[in-house]
Amino acid sequence: MNLLVIVGRGGTGKTSFVALTAKYFIEAGATPILLVDADPDQNLGEMVGVDLHAAGKKTISELLVETFLEEGGTTVGVPPTKRIESRIWSHGLYEGVDFDFIALGTKWIEGCYCLPNAALKGALESLTKNYRYVLIDSPAGLEHLNRRITSRVDDIFDVVDPSKKSFDHVERAYRIAVEVKISFKNFYVVGGFRFPEALEDQAKSLVRFKFLGKIAYDENVEKHVLAGESLLNLPINSPAYVSVKRIMNAAGHPC
Ligand SMILES: Nc1ncnc2c1ncn2[C@@H]1O[C@H](COP(=O)(O)OP(=O)(O)OP(=O)(O)O)[C@@H](O)[C@H]1O
Ligand SMILES: [Mg+2]
Repeated sequence: MNLLVIVGRGGTGKTSFVALTAKYFIEAGATPILLVDADPDQNLGEMVGVDLHAAGKKTISELLVETFLEEGGTTVGVPPTKRIESRIWSHGLYEGVDFDFIALGTKWIEGCYCLPNAALKGALESLTKNYRYVLIDSPAGLEHLNRRITSRVDDIFDVVDPSKKSFDHVERAYRIAVEVKISFKNFYVVGGFRFPEALEDQAKSLVRFKFLGKIAYDENVEKHVLAGESLLNLPINSPAYVSVKRIMNAAGHPC
């Protein structure tokens, strides 16, 4: 299993990057794939054509609240991890033709739900084992890294825009990942769609991490997002899609 986490400042193009990477892996036959929407705002679903609730599924936070708070967590004899795990399988996991999908949702983030956090971690560890690729779309902040839902990651991709803040984000994300002891193999920097080509060389020298190239600006992406259409339906010669393929190849994926 390859676990790829996409981070970055707000609006740099993380979610569309995840969707286009999914499109690439599907087309390359690098399946099965699990997409995880870890952003409380939840737009990954729309970008890959999934409406979780319309499909009769729930976010993980909704399942945690039901399982641990509303039911008091007293189901005799069944350990918490198993309990939430079976709920995720039956009520949280959207199973598509080309990929599966879960959304973490929001509620459980608030306050300290230590038991759900530990149970969720265990459940996710066992769920993700079944996939060749797991892609995690993160919210803009870095707090989620602190929760260590995943402690073993293959690659972290930080999508940057051309600002000092974005490069600070790279340093901070790296530091936090190390501090909270998330083990990862590679930490990559990706130029977002607003990143000027002329700055690519400078970017390479600015960061001590491998710069994989930039995501091409693509009108078609904007139009699809505006219309709420799946980015999986973009033509394969779309500039953004072609650039994401190149970026993934530079990172050695699919493998
Ligand atoms: N390659 C691209 N070319 C042109 N526009 C793009 C591209 N990728 C994304 N966009 C536009 O930028 C907006 C933000 O993209 P996206 O949602 O992927 O960013 P994000 O980093 O996930 O944002 P957030 O931090 O809010 O989660 C999209 O609504 C879309 O219109
Ligand atoms: Mg996003």
